[in-house]
Amino acid sequence: MVLVLTLVACPVTTPVETAASDSGEADSGEADTADRCAGAATLDWDNFGHGFVIEHCNGCHAASASDRHGAPLDHTYDTVEQVWTHADGILALAASASPSMPPRGGVSDDDRVRLYWWLGCGTFGH
Ligand code: HEC
Repeated sequence: MVLVLTLVACPVTTPVETAASDSGEADSGEADTADRCAGAATLDWDNFGHGFVIEHCNGCHAASASDRHGAPLDHTYDTVEQVWTHADGILALAASASPSMPPRGGVSDDDRVRLYWWLGCGTFGH
């Protein structure tokens, strides 16, 4: 509920959209990132990320997981730095058009968008 209110109340829409529409000569990669970040809520470890990885990833990716199901030891997501170190890989597997993590799914489309807003639009270590 707090998250929903944060999204509705977030005031960043206008400047980000202005930046995106002004960048008409950007190459497609930059344009894609700008499009996906336009209007993005400001999400970080405290208001989104920590809860997200606990709920969806750390059954297998926590150091304390009783059964990692083979999740690689270097992909342990207990701290914000550990997650950000693997941000590109996490986005590729969990926030892409056909995500493969978590293996059995269960993440809503909205939360996959939020995951992108956090790691794709946010700042390393936050
Ligand atoms: C049921 C256990 C399980 C859950 C839950 C799970 N994973 Fe995984 N994860 C694995 C296993 C097993 C592998 C290694 C095999 C593979 O890559 O498919 C893996 C591999 C990965 C990799 C690739 C690691 C590499 O070496 O490149 C990433 C990135 C990843 N997971 C991210 C996530 C994220 C993000 C979540 C939560 C949204 C998540 N996983 C949830 C079991 C899990």
